[in-house]
Amino acid sequence: MNILAELRRRFSAALAESTDDPEQFAQMVRPAQDPRFGDFQANCAMPLAKLIGTNPRDLAQQIVDKLDVLDLCDPPEVAGPGFINLRLRDDWLEAEVNAIAFDSGLGVQPVETPRKYVVDFSSPNVAKPMHVGHLRSTVIGDALCRILRALGHDVTSDNHIGDWGTQFGMIIYGYKHFLDRSSYETDPVGELARLYRFVNTLCDYPAAKEKLPQLEQRLAELKQQLPQAREQAKSDKKLKKNVKRIESEIRDLAGTDDRAGEIAETQKKIAAVESDLALRQAMQEHPGIARSVRDETARLHAGDDDNTRLWEEFLPQCISALQQVYQRLGITFDMTLGESHYQAQLGPAVDDLAAQGLAVESDGAMCVFIEGNDAPFIVRKSDGAFTYATTDLATIHYRVRELGAQAILYVVDARQSEHFDLLFAAARKWGYAETELKHVSFGTVMGEDGRPFKTRAGDVVGLESLLDEAVVEARKIVDANDDAKPDGPELDDETRSKVAEVVGIGGIKYADLHHNRDSDYIFSWEKMLATRGDTATYMQYAYARVCGILRRGGIDPTELRASGERIRLDEPAERSLGLQLCRFAEALDAVATEYRPNQLTQYLFETANLLSTFYEQCPVLKADDEATRNSRLRLVDLTGRIIQHGLSLLGIDTCEQM
Ligand code: ARG
Repeated sequence: MNILAELRRRFSAALAESTDDPEQFAQMVRPAQDPRFGDFQANCAMPLAKLIGTNPRDLAQQIVDKLDVLDLCDPPEVAGPGFINLRLRDDWLEAEVNAIAFDSGLGVQPVETPRKYVVDFSSPNVAKPMHVGHLRSTVIGDALCRILRALGHDVTSDNHIGDWGTQFGMIIYGYKHFLDRSSYETDPVGELARLYRFVNTLCDYPAAKEKLPQLEQRLAELKQQLPQAREQAKSDKKLKKNVKRIESEIRDLAGTDDRAGEIAETQKKIAAVESDLALRQAMQEHPGIARSVRDETARLHAGDDDNTRLWEEFLPQCISALQQVYQRLGITFDMTLGESHYQAQLGPAVDDLAAQGLAVESDGAMCVFIEGNDAPFIVRKSDGAFTYATTDLATIHYRVRELGAQAILYVVDARQSEHFDLLFAAARKWGYAETELKHVSFGTVMGEDGRPFKTRAGDVVGLESLLDEAVVEARKIVDANDDAKPDGPELDDETRSKVAEVVGIGGIKYADLHHNRDSDYIFSWEKMLATRGDTATYMQYAYARVCGILRRGGIDPTELRASGERIRLDEPAERSLGLQLCRFAEALDAVATEYRPNQLTQYLFETANLLSTFYEQCPVLKADDEATRNSRLRLVDLTGRIIQHGLSLLGIDTCEQM
């Protein structure tokens, strides 16, 4: 049972006579920050009293009088200016924790009205460097699928790979002109990635060459304007804004100590070609390469035989390379319907939008205009090409009509938020207003240098090497920990390797999951694998410690669970831990409300902390009497199960011994 939700329902009923919107005020029931004030606290009396013009303490008392909670709670108390403090009844809490201990779902009941979800995640552009952003999408998306399923929803995971974009024009062109056949034979995907980078570098060069002098001139102008603008701002404060604007534009162009500016980026693109003999030569021989690459893409899209054949040759190789990464991460998809899957549906989609008067022509392009947005949503460019937007619209149509989706989640980098705002607005006009469309956006993974984190090689292979590195780092920790055991090491080499894999991969995943997904975060091995603190490692050790206690006590967990021994929550540390275990369902619901896996990581972290306090205060194997020992063993076992199950819902494995 989700206790918090139950209390809110009770409050909602009690508030019905005082307000038209009891729900809103019932939401103000929260877990208490300080256990001295009980287990939960309701702060709704103050704002509601203000609204209806009455005394908050009196109102709080009226709410309490109407509140029907005595089956769950001790009599509620009104405190201070009108807080309502709730403490769960000890007998009720004990009964609840025992019910959970006997429940295979650990107290999580399936939702009453399951929904059909399609979760679009990972979705890398194949044959193109896959970056840690795709890893973050993969990890968050997978966790959401697992959690929504655990809540009883019907979830389809869909890897919407970019398998039809301009990168194919690049590798087709590269294949035709720059292929290293022997590399291609030994490592096709590596060679395709090389071709992509090679051609991409060439395509960027002419534009960079043209842009550089303009940028330099602009910088010179700004630098000249600055002293005068500063002078003017001294006498007229309003002109300070002007100074700020100039300074910020200068920073964008010239960069700062920890961020390269546009000029340096552009110079880098030029230098990449000019400093490399092969690229320099290729540039001379292929001056119009950008245009030719576009033509190759267009030919592929038009069904040209050669290009189709090459695409059909490249794609399975790219997919199997991705597959290796997914396998390592323990992630599977229900479907991998890439952009190419929707090709035949793009024309009809645009026609339908046009027929309904939603898409109109503008400068030769077909656009959907969204109120309050200057930029139109372009569904067909003036050269006839369809766009990322068109594919996404056709995909919504497919997911709703063919898959019966009621909710579609897009686990994609925050930098695409404008695209999704426009997409969702266009889809609503097109008749999909009933479908929940949600951009589950996330921030950038930064390196310790403050710039977007890049894997060493910057490609799929690079991502794999990142996973390898994680496991190598994890191995050091596993070794150190095992070597330091008071009775000497317990693990053989093979076990240590297995544990290192679980710790390394778990650490990477947890780092992506435990941050508020909206924020950027800095990638740090040290923080990621710390054995204390908010890390997977800490919780994996907490789980292994539980298993260790049972092992040392010679206890078979299955027998223990079947024994019918009851958990008692006599000591404060037992009670706090027991209450926490009863809140597992609440944590999962909290993830589902806004699609935030960090609600679960936070819950697990708190659980592991309460377990550790419990160990400090309550001996388990050495408990005073048999009944206490058995009760504590069951409590510890239940905690271990919840940590293990919670981590598994995040896609993180555990080991019984580490
Ligand atoms: N392939 C895109 C990228 O790598 C992400 C696709 C996300 N999904 C979608 N339906 N637009 O940036």
